[in-house]
Order: sequence, then structure tokens, then C-alpha cells
Amino acid sequence: MSESLFLGLDVGTSGVKALLVGADGEVVGAATAPLTMETPRVGWAEQDPEAWWAASVAALREVLGDGRAARVAGIGISGQMHSSVFLDRAGEVIRPALLWCDGRTTAECREITQSVGGEERLRDLASNPALEGFTLPKVLWLRNHEPEAFERLATVLLAKDYVRYRLTGALATEPSDASATLMYDTAGLRWSEEIMSAVGLPMSILPDVGGSSEVLGRVTADAAALTGLPAGTPVVGGGADNACGAAGVGAVSPGEAVASWGTSGTVLAPIAQPLVDPGLRAHTFCHVAPGVWYLMGVVLSAGAAFAWHRDQLALDALSAGDASLRLNDEAATIAPGADGVTFLPYLQGERTPHRDASARGAFIGLSLAHTRAHLTRAVLEGVCFALRDSVSILQQLEVAPDHLLLTGGGARSPFVRKLQADVYGLPVATVNREEGPAYGAALLAAVGAGAYPDLAAAAQATLTRSAMEQPDPAAHRAYQAPYARFRAAYPVLKTLLTS
Ligand code: XUL
Repeated sequence: MSESLFLGLDVGTSGVKALLVGADGEVVGAATAPLTMETPRVGWAEQDPEAWWAASVAALREVLGDGRAARVAGIGISGQMHSSVFLDRAGEVIRPALLWCDGRTTAECREITQSVGGEERLRDLASNPALEGFTLPKVLWLRNHEPEAFERLATVLLAKDYVRYRLTGALATEPSDASATLMYDTAGLRWSEEIMSAVGLPMSILPDVGGSSEVLGRVTADAAALTGLPAGTPVVGGGADNACGAAGVGAVSPGEAVASWGTSGTVLAPIAQPLVDPGLRAHTFCHVAPGVWYLMGVVLSAGAAFAWHRDQLALDALSAGDASLRLNDEAATIAPGADGVTFLPYLQGERTPHRDASARGAFIGLSLAHTRAHLTRAVLEGVCFALRDSVSILQQLEVAPDHLLLTGGGARSPFVRKLQADVYGLPVATVNREEGPAYGAALLAAVGAGAYPDLAAAAQATLTRSAMEQPDPAAHRAYQAPYARFRAAYPVLKTLLTS
């Protein structure tokens, strides 16, 4: 087992990452293949599942390049949540996937809520309300808007499950992604026949559900020839990217909380029971550790807002990485509150706390005295303020502990780490692995291969935490007024922001 390698594959929105991890937890190789997201109309978001597969093959070939393939003892896959892959009877993709940040299904959300008998009933059945980004509204959108495509529909998969299908031929998912479809009984751990029959969909479109660290398929000869993986390599269930990201920093049981900056931003706290936010602002989903759920607030544009700002307003001559560093350095020269500039990051609508797919972003309070540095500072602060809304909700629900683990882009930059600590008013820490969901997926593969008895043991053996970075009380106070301005802006601007 000591020579064994475990492979974590994360099917994200901006790229697919392949990560090779040794049995001792050391990262021995990583490769990323980029993806682009199509926005064919305002508020829509699509990707072609074939592009996920092509990027997976490219990342796998690169990471396995140095003759390491023979040592791979297991594969775990994580991926963007909710995104709908529509397959026909032959397993062919019918149309591009509607992504987690696609907001076109407001009418279908109403249809679902009415069909099951109201929001309370839906909450009892699914532990969540109908939100545009979830998978079920997208299936109904297909039925309502592309009936010929819907006629061909045989199976609905999630992003990582499609990559599993291409690797192994198995049509399968696991609870962390199933619970985020709105077709799953999140508390009862089974597909919801009640919801499916209320909306008039057959159970046959749903894949089998296995465990996140259970072997659900093996690499086929065809996939082996394409990727360089040995045929027969076991592929475990894996999990939703947020759940795997939490696992990748060791947040697998109650008493932890994680703030993540990927394309989206999330604040997640594992819980021992499927507790539901009475205000339905935070989601309740299954974790990748059996018998654990989590509450999560979701900011739809976190890294996406910063990348948008960088790409639209910044520094054509620089690479994206260098432009990001330059912008961060400029923002650090501006005082908390960005001299009165407020940014609302609702570029693709917002889930937590507003539940408003048609919300849009805004810069407020601009003057001739403001510079690009102010705009950047306002963007970074706006994302932190939006995440603070989720931190506050978890605090109200008494599930947020007195510290946060940080992961993703906002954990890597010392400036943004401090910004988060100061805005939330909480100590923050990072772990010795930066790979987030791909690392969590690799740990699931290691558990599946028997290298560790369970996920908690795997995390314990492989992760160490940094010292807590304490918030600066004066800086936290300095953010109170800008945060209050941020909070006041959306209710006032709501009708103007909607497109
Ligand atoms: C969570 C969500 C996003 C995606 C990003 O509900 O929609 O965080 O998982 O990949």
C-alpha cells in the first residue's frame, strides 16, 4: 500500500484538476486543463459535458505522464454540483448541461413547489426549497422548452458522474450530489418517489446511488487507452465539490466550518442531523462522510466576480495570475470600506441570502477620486460581505464554530485571508494542502482502497492546520459601516438590478 497512489479528479467550472496523492498524503503530481463557461443569454450558464471529458482526459494524461499510472490504486471524482447532464438511451449527451449558476428556471421552481403542495411540503421531502440552480428545475425546463430533447431523455447525471460514466461505463451517483438535485430525500437517504411522482417524472431517469468511498465502477479498456490509467482501476463514488472541498481540509464532522472561494463562494458547516434553515437561505445536503450532513450558504459569484473584474477592467499585458497579484497589491493600499465604494457581486443572481436568480451586480458610490484600486478593493470586500451573510446565517442557526477553515483562492492570498478574518471577525486557519475538492476526492479513493478505515482517519493522518490568524478588532470595527451599507443596498436596488 505504501507505493500506492490515489487520484483525485475535480470537474470544476473553470477547469478539471487531476491530483496524485501518496498513501502518506503527500501530493506527487497535479495537472489542470481549463474549461470555459458559455452564457448564451443573461443569467444562463452552460457547458458541454464532452468538454468535461476532454479536459479530464488531458489532465489525466498529463499527471500520469511519468510512469506513475501503474501505482494508481483508486480514483475519486468530485465536481460542480447540480449541473444537469441529459443522456439518451444510448448514453449520448442530448444538449449542453445547464450549470449550477444558471438562472433560467424560475417558472419551473414555481411549478415544482405547486406540484408537491407548497414550500413546506417540499422542505419536508427534500430539506430544501426549489432554487433555479438545482437539477430538478432544469429537467422540467427541458420538458417545457425543448420537448423533442425531453422525449429522448433516459438518464440525468451530475458533472462528476458523467466523467465516471465515461471512465467506467457505470451510471451512478452518491448522496452528496444526489441530495443537491431536489429529487432526493435528504433526510431519508433515498430518491424521493413523492417528488418525482408529483412533478410527473419517471424514477427510471435517476442513476443508482452508492457510497462516496464505495467502489462504483472500474476503468474500462477504452478509457484506459485514452487516459493512460490501468484498465480495472477502481473508481469510488466521490462527491459534490463543496463536500469534497470540506473533506480536503478535514471538515468532516460537526464543530468545523469552511469558507471556500472557487468560482462560487460557500460557507459550509457539517451537522449530525439534517437540520433545515427555517428561512431556507442556506442549503441542507449530505456530506461525503456517511451519517453527516451540512448546512451551506452559497455566493454564486466569488472567484467569478474577481475574475470578471480582472478580465474586464485590468491589465491585458499581464497573465491572469500576474494581473490578480497586481490588483491585490493595489487593493491593499486602500483603507477598509474602499473610501465609500460598495460592490454587489450578484453578477449571476444570488442564492444566499436573497434567493434571487434575477439579481445583478453593482458598483455604488463612485466618484472622480476613485481609482482601479478602489474598485478592486470593493470587489474583494463585496465578496467577503456576501460570504459574511452566510457566516451570520450559520451563526444564527448555531452551527458555526468560533473559527473558520479557509480554502480556495481566498485562502492562498495573505491579503484576502486577512480580509476574511477581519470582515467575519473570526479567527481563520488553512491546512497544508491547497488542492481542495481534488484532495478530498483522493482521500475518498484512499478510504475506498482500504488505506484508511474512514474519511476522518484519512484527514487526521494527512492534514495539518496552520496557526489561527486572529482578526484585528479595529479593522473588524472599521468594516461595520461598509458592511451595513452593503446589506442596505440590495433591498433598495432590487427592482433596478433585475434584468
Ligand atoms: C453549490 C454550488 C456551487 C457549485 C460550484 O450549491 O452551486 O458551489 O458546486 O461548483
